[in-house]
Amino acid sequence: MTTLTIRTPDDWHLHFRDGDMLTETVPATARCFQRAIVMPNLAPPVVNATLAMAYKERILAARPAGSTFEPLMTLYLTNATTGQDIIDAKAVGVVAAKLYPAGATTNSSAAVTDLEAMYPIFDVMAEQGMLLLVHGEVTDHHIDIFDREKVFIDQKMSKIVAAFPHLKVVFEHITTSDAAHFVNDASDNVAATITPQHLLLNRNDLLVGGVRPHNFCLPVLKRNTHQAVLRQMVQSGSPKFFLGTDSAPHAKEAKENACGCAGCYSAWSAIELYAHVFEELGALDKLEGFASDHGADFYGLPRNEGTITLMRQEWTLPEEIILPDGRPIVPFFAGQQVSWKLQN
Ligand code: NCD
Ligand code: ZN
Repeated sequence: MTTLTIRTPDDWHLHFRDGDMLTETVPATARCFQRAIVMPNLAPPVVNATLAMAYKERILAARPAGSTFEPLMTLYLTNATTGQDIIDAKAVGVVAAKLYPAGATTNSSAAVTDLEAMYPIFDVMAEQGMLLLVHGEVTDHHIDIFDREKVFIDQKMSKIVAAFPHLKVVFEHITTSDAAHFVNDASDNVAATITPQHLLLNRNDLLVGGVRPHNFCLPVLKRNTHQAVLRQMVQSGSPKFFLGTDSAPHAKEAKENACGCAGCYSAWSAIELYAHVFEELGALDKLEGFASDHGADFYGLPRNEGTITLMRQEWTLPEEIILPDGRPIVPFFAGQQVSWKLQN
């Protein structure tokens, strides 16, 4: 097979950042994705309808000329979020709210400290048809970083899903066989996104032969047995799993640092990297479902009408990209070869 045409895909989880950075990140995603779920972890975070709409305008202004790319906005849940915040956000088209346990990841210090105190908000979300997007890791110091997703399932996620059967929940960027099986066995109202890095890599790629800061993201890469289960799930074609890159840019100096930031900037090669994985799995026929159908169906949005075409062509990702502020950034998979390329 030398070309592959699929329905235009969407990215159901990414970080655009703000300001100047948008002129880098928005075109990178708009090159092949029609829509994207935009994470609200700005500093300060996007906590209400007004902030979400203002952010949406800044993203729209950064689109390349002629682009019809559509950002789908989300709200950042805090201890202070009210039911009225949810109603107001829904009324202006915000589709989902993101739950970060406080301290779990980049810009999450303002986030939720007591999950059960959020239950009245989850009730309003279920009534309003607003999705709950979950960063599924506990943050207790005594819990090993490699176990934080599993402990979150046991202590929190299983309870939320049981208490709110009508709430649509996306378990974001899953990394473990525990999360994959949890989602697979849950009701149709529970789904998950999977990133390219968690399909392509495991923790050896982070730590063997020296620390690789550009492969560091949260939730952190796990052992290869977990990676294998994530790959099986996408290979199965199950509609519960869909594309969410978690593309999360940090400048080179912030990654190659004594205390390096978490996040992989994958937007420039995302669809190609997923194609690479599906080809390795002998499942290129399942790429369209994962990239273009399952997410839209789960969100209750129409599937896109256009198509994109990928060509079988070896190309090498650049070692660096220069950000609008002049600083370099190292894209995910920098300097490595990919065997599919988007046809422009
Ligand atoms: C994300 C970021 O940098 O905003 N980082 C990451 O490693 N994924 C935050 C997140 O999604 O956890
Ligand atoms: Zn993210």
